[in-house]
Amino acid sequence: MRLIHPDQRETSPEQLASGLRLGESALPERPYLALNMVSSLDGKATIDWRTRGLSSELDRRLFHHLRTQADAVMVGAGTARNERYGRMIKSEELRGRRREEGLEPDPLAVVVSARLDLPADLPLLQEPGQRVVIGTGSDAVLQGVTAQVEYERVGEDLPLLMARLREAYGVRSVLCEGGPTLNSYLLAAGLVDELFLSLNPKLAGGAAALTIVAGRELVEPAELELVSVAEGDGDLFTRWLVGD
Ligand SMILES: NC(=O)c1ccc[n+]([C@@H]2O[C@H](COP(=O)([O-])OP(=O)(O)OC[C@H]3O[C@@H](n4cnc5c(N)ncnc54)[C@H](OP(=O)(O)O)[C@@H]3O)[C@@H](O)[C@H]2O)c1
Repeated sequence: MRLIHPDQRETSPEQLASGLRLGESALPERPYLALNMVSSLDGKATIDWRTRGLSSELDRRLFHHLRTQADAVMVGAGTARNERYGRMIKSEELRGRRREEGLEPDPLAVVVSARLDLPADLPLLQEPGQRVVIGTGSDAVLQGVTAQVEYERVGEDLPLLMARLREAYGVRSVLCEGGPTLNSYLLAAGLVDELFLSLNPKLAGGAAALTIVAGRELVEPAELELVSVAEGDGDLFTRWLVGD
């Protein structure tokens, strides 16, 4: 893998996703939030409703190492259900990397589900070592889960959820892994600070396939500023800052 902007040198997913110290940029009232997404060259976020066909080996390494950089990893219910989310950190080595970054060995998992429509057998909810916060509009409680699940009854109020994560859980940085619907609400609420976007060299087609931002309309297009680009095995790994 080679960094091609702003400098030119050899790099790796591990180098791109280390020492980011995202939490140091947090505002007092909410965590700093970075999105991580992958898309085809025609901007599609899925092939056959999954990301698997778009995510290369290098992208998967970057994906897992980015999880070593934030206090919390957040996902929308649609993605948690479709991608069958499990424990966020997959190995002791990655937990060790988090410790080296001054973070807890496991991030807080945050799932956003207005309707609390999550299957109890979702692997993430069956991990006793995983602390999970569910932001929801429902008053119900999920039955038969063995993860440490807490509820934030915030309705669809994402700024309130972010404020609660900061104040009640001490979260300074959130890595959000989508999906496209959640992204649109986060962007509309001005809660996104940066974007990691991997571009996979495929044209996926399919009129119904979502792009990386779908769901609610944005009043104004979000303006982003390029931070870095790396290339590896034909994929481009880009990082962008979201303007105010
Ligand atoms: N290419 C990529 O990088 C990437 C990344 C992630 C996902 N994906 C793909 O995207 C697809 C899923 O995307 P999606 O857009 O359908 O789902 P999503 O954004 O993951 O989740 C949508 C759900 O999140 C909840 N939600 C969203 N905004 C909310 C708010 N403001 N307040 C409360 N709840 C809120 C709702 O849950 P309830 O319905 O439970 O109320 C909503 O139905 C999957 O096919 C997945 O593979 C691709």
